[in-house]
Amino acid sequence: MTDNVTATDDDATRVITLRRPDKKNALTQDMYAAISRAIDGAQTDSKIRCLVISGGAGAFTAGNDLDDFLKASGNSTGDRPMNAINFLRSLAHNAKPLVAAVDGVAVGVGTTMIFHCDYVIASTAASFSTPFIHLGLVPEGASSLLVPMAMGHQRAFAMLVMGQKISAEDAKQAGFVNAVVAPGHAEDEARKIARQICALPAEAVALSRKLLKTPPEDLMRRIDHESKLFGERMTSQEAVAAFNAFFARKKA
Ligand code: COA
Repeated sequence: MTDNVTATDDDATRVITLRRPDKKNALTQDMYAAISRAIDGAQTDSKIRCLVISGGAGAFTAGNDLDDFLKASGNSTGDRPMNAINFLRSLAHNAKPLVAAVDGVAVGVGTTMIFHCDYVIASTAASFSTPFIHLGLVPEGASSLLVPMAMGHQRAFAMLVMGQKISAEDAKQAGFVNAVVAPGHAEDEARKIARQICALPAEAVALSRKLLKTPPEDLMRRIDHESKLFGERMTSQEAVAAFNAFFARKKA
């Protein structure tokens, strides 16, 4: 159980909110588990027709809690704790439309999960980055499959291999953000979009969405492959040095 994630149902929309603002909503194992529960539970709940994921105002998420990475780097295998993998599995298998509200940083898995969403609202304060390279790691969450599909190899290379950050406007131009709004308004706008989706014929929405999406088994194959490499990289000298540097920076 954690207070850092809430899931509340607003008519037919389940709103999942990340609430760890002092740590820029960095995701702990408990938070991954809570998000998974909210997504998985919606699959069999016919009342829920749409999901919203929001970081509230100020940050979407700073990605995986780096303290977890530091701990995992001490394991002989470097395996990521299962809750993070289960969260990626929940995203891959999710069959309900998912709307994201991004206000502030979306780092690492914060950006990766955006490519599993169906509609993305970003505020002008939003930025998207996957600094895997700077951590000595490799892409995860099927991003190595979905990002090039969404914006072509060259822009995917700049983001995933060079770790370049993308602004909200650039993300809209790249095609993975639908609309850019003023800071503080992303969640309201996302809820509005969700209500529009909920008003559409549910069965036809589900079938049409399925036609558009990469099948879960293809996503899982890529996620498993990435996870194996990710685990191997986690114990690398490059990764351990980067995790320690982040926390040393704090103390300086
Ligand atoms: N894991 C653990 N703690 C994190 C974190 C993370 N991923 N991201 C931020 N935090 C913590 C900081 O340590 C800090 O805690 P403190 O107040 O106890 O010192 C707090 O959140 C605020 O972060 P801070 O760095 O002061 O905010 P900022 O606005 O200057 O920078 C980020 C925000 C997100 C750019 C920066 O924190 C960062 O680069 N975080 C790491 C992101 C990352 O590499 N994620 C993993 C990707 S795979």
